[in-house]
Order: sequence, then C-alpha cells, then structure tokens
Amino acid sequence: MAAHLITRTDPATSATWWRTAVVYQIYPRSFADSTGDGIGDINGIRSRIGYLADLGVDAIWISPWYPSPMKDAGYDVSDFRDIDPVFGTLDDAQSLLDEAHAAGIRVLIDIVPNHVSDAHPWFRAALAAGPGSPQRARFVFRDGRGATGDLPPNDWMSTFGGSAWTRTLNPDGTPGQWYLHLFTPHQPDVNWACQDVVADFEATLRFWFDRGVDGFRIDVAHGLVKDEALADIGAMAFPLPDDTAAGIDHPHWDRPGVHDIYRSWRTIADSYDPPRIFVGEVWVGRPHRLAAYVRPDELHTAFNFEFLNAAWMPTRLRAVIDATLSTHAEVGAPSTWVLENHDVPRVVSRDARPQERLSSKIEIDELLRLPADFDLGRRRARAHALVLLGLPGVAYVYEGQELGLPEVEDLPASAIQDPVFFQTRGLSRGRDGCRVPIPWTGDPDGYGFQPAHAEAAPWLPQPAQWADLSVEAQQDDPTSTLNLYRRALRLRTSLPELRDGDFAWVEGAGFAFRRGEDIECRVNFDAAPVALPQDAEVLVASDVLVDGMLPTDTAVWIRRDRAATGD
Ligand code: NOJ
Repeated sequence: MAAHLITRTDPATSATWWRTAVVYQIYPRSFADSTGDGIGDINGIRSRIGYLADLGVDAIWISPWYPSPMKDAGYDVSDFRDIDPVFGTLDDAQSLLDEAHAAGIRVLIDIVPNHVSDAHPWFRAALAAGPGSPQRARFVFRDGRGATGDLPPNDWMSTFGGSAWTRTLNPDGTPGQWYLHLFTPHQPDVNWACQDVVADFEATLRFWFDRGVDGFRIDVAHGLVKDEALADIGAMAFPLPDDTAAGIDHPHWDRPGVHDIYRSWRTIADSYDPPRIFVGEVWVGRPHRLAAYVRPDELHTAFNFEFLNAAWMPTRLRAVIDATLSTHAEVGAPSTWVLENHDVPRVVSRDARPQERLSSKIEIDELLRLPADFDLGRRRARAHALVLLGLPGVAYVYEGQELGLPEVEDLPASAIQDPVFFQTRGLSRGRDGCRVPIPWTGDPDGYGFQPAHAEAAPWLPQPAQWADLSVEAQQDDPTSTLNLYRRALRLRTSLPELRDGDFAWVEGAGFAFRRGEDIECRVNFDAAPVALPQDAEVLVASDVLVDGMLPTDTAVWIRRDRAATGD
C-alpha cells in the first residue's frame, strides 16, 4: 500500500498538540493515595507530577473524580461539577490543573454523558414525580410489557449482564414503570432527546473548560442516542451488523444522532483559546465507523480499540494499522493507539497467551483461562510498546503499563468491587485485575502507594511479588520497562519524524515501517534472530540484541544512513 502522508503539526502554535500527544491515563483510585484511606486521590496525583514530567508524557487523562456512590468506580456520577470527597476538593482539582500546566502537562478529564448515578438529584426527582412528568422525560422510562406490565419494555441487555431495564416502585409501593440502563441499574441512561440533558452537559463542559481543563474523554460516546421506538434487538450482532449492508440501524449503538451532539460540543470547545479537545470512547468495531466520529467538525480523536484487540501477529497488526491510517486520513484526523485501559486485561498478560486464540470477541475471563507464559508476555509487551509509540498520531499509556505490570489474576472474590462481578453473579471476575494500586517503592506494605502507617490498606490487594516492578526498583535500571518507555518518549519528543513524519511499510523486511525518510521500527516475529541493515543506528531496542541481531519478539527503532551504504 502507498505511504500514508501525515498532517504536519505547526510548531509555531501549540493548538495542534493533541495530534501527536502521548497521553497517560490516571485511574485516580489506584495511582497515589495521599491520605492513607486506601484510595488514591488528587493530592496523590499532584505529588507525582514530577514523575509524569520525567516520564515525558504530554497530557494526562483522569478517570472520573466526581461525587459518586462508586457503584461503578465513579462512572456513576451524581454531580458533574464537583469532586468526590474521597478524591479531594474543587480547590485540589484547580491546584492540580495549575501545577500540571506549569510542568507542561495538559489535563483531560472524563465526562459520562450516557448515564448518571441513581443518586443524581434528577433521577430522585424522576422517581418522585411519576409517569409522564418532565422529570421522567430526562430518562428513558416506559411501562412494562404483559398484562400487568411485569415484563421489561424490550429485549435490550445491559453491557454488564442481565436486562437493561429495572422496574421502579410507585410512591405508594406498587410496581411502577421501568427505566433503561445500558450498564448497572445504578446508572440510568439519560434521554438525549430532552433539552434539559443537552443544556446541562454543555454547562458541564463550560464549567471545566473555564477552569482550564484541556479536554474531555467521552465515556460510551457511541451510545447516547436511542431509537425512540425502542425496538427489540433480537439476533442483531454486537456491535453492528455487517457494514456493507445498507441502513445500519442498531437501536442503541452508533446511531446517526450522536454526531449532532458532537458537532455542537465541538463549537463549544473551539470557542476557547486555546481550543479544547475531545477523545471519544467509541466501540464500533470497524475503522470507517470510528472515523465518522472524527470528521473535522466533530471529535478531535477517538480511541482505536481495534489496535488493542489485535493479536500480536504481524498480519493482524498490519491490517489494523493500514485500515486505521487510511480511514483516518480520509477525514484528516490523527489516529490514536491504545494497548491498555482500566477495562481490559493488561498487555503483558494478553501477550502471554497463544495469540492465534485471541479475537476481539474473546471475553476477559476466557482470555485469562488460556495458558500463559509471562516471560514471553513481558518480552512481547515491550516490543508492542515500541510499535505503539512508533506509529503516527496519539498514543495512550495506562498507569502501570510503563512498569510492565501484569493483570492481577488471583484477586480473592471477597476483594473484587467491579459491578461486572456482581451483575454476572460471579461468572465473570470483571476488570479489577488491571485496577490494582500501582507500586512506587519496594515496601510490601502498600508499595509506596500510600503514606507509611496508613489507616487502611489499598482498596484492592497488591500481589506479593510487586517490589521488583516498582518505580523505585526500575528507576535506575537501564534495562527496565520504565526506562524503555522513558527513552522512547524522549525520542518521540526529539525526533520530528516520529511525531509527524510520513508512514510507509518497509517491504521485504518482515514487520517494519518507516517514519519520515530515515527512522524505522522493525519487529522480529520469526523464530530465529534476524540481521539489521548494515547502515542501521539503533536508537532504542525493546530487549538486548544478540551479536547485533534482532531476537524473536523484539522491536527496535533504527536510523538508516543510506548515504553510507548507497541503499
Ligand atoms: C466505559 C468505562 O470505561 C467503564 O469503566 C464503565 O464501566 C462504563 N463505560 C460505564 O460508564
């Protein structure tokens, strides 16, 4: 395939920083606990800004920090314009914004526009006001089916298992209407056909933009608009029927109306100086459906989960990279590349599994039941990192990914807090295995996640063998995964080719791509070591080279000096 031309960023302005940024995701509960209550917080993040600057990230994205009953770790928001006391205060948030900016780090926060908490004043008012009221119009309330209304209004399923409908009680205690929740029953979906909802979320955007927030990550960005007929889904495939079929019409995912919402949000973001930005959490399963969200007047970027889901196999990776680059180029948007977040098993543990058994449809629990070779997983994950960071566009790194943390696969059931575990009645262990508080020091008593003599243990137990993976242990070890990430991020900053150099495959060289004229990323997927070109200067390697050869499951970034060899 032809080379992909990459849109140049303008060095004279910082307004295009988001096209090439490395964004570090902070899951605040698990990053750094300043108070010793076992849960990470804003002042903990503030205390680690030096670490983030030293790592070399351009921005952080902070998962929800709003007041919440924490039925889904903060993705059940009861007030979008305040901070949950467990994380701190609005003043702490302002200090974090100011200090991050002073360190040259931009700040994205999460917005959750598909649903609110059932403790949100709007939902309480809706229950109290009864059927047909304007308060209920902010949600999706319907009478049940069947003679007594005791069957849910349709067959929609919650993403976390079970029906997407819960029946309410009338104020007099008799069974009442049902409400829609595509996630837990504690997260009623709001109704985007209601102007109150539109206006309130726009006010929230402005509230945080006015405080200096640089942008938002949009939760479930493809889910906001529902088919008003609330038609049954029946056997329709998730997430979408075949793209080539005319008139894709899933009743609650990826409906055309979502694009109007983002066009309106974009005008708000553009009205700020510098303009604010968005990244959408968009699970649509097909690159060209994803690209529709990042047309010039909509979102700036959207997570590319196809790359995350791709097995560590050259054919699969190449196919995803090609499809992503070409569909994004059509709309002039940068691609994003992501390997981890707080919802998926960590890349070390995915890469440790037989790759031919992986697919985008595999459930977390099924994946983790496959046999694992963790040394292999670590080796591949390091090479995977150089692919991630070598591609053109935006790269996301999830806290602990830079330490090579594996999934914690043996959390005791008594410790698990993810609603997925409860909603599936324990059939799925859920996502807590990638949410364990990260190790900063070798002290097994909290690994520096919290102050000494903390009053409460970390909210999820940390494994006994994590001392060697801590920041302290890796800090001065030139071979550590932390230093691999640091080196790669520094190169991304210092080499303009890695930011906005064109992309092309190097044919006949195995899995190898070129950035700009002279920089290449090469990975050896063969069983035996392979030679590097004679004129190669190695900039960074994911593992040690053996006699100048690239071992299996190892990646390098090299600079070619073709003039020297006449190539
Ligand atoms: C996606 C978030 O990443 C996930 O953690 C959350 O459970 C769901 N959206 C529901 O908000």
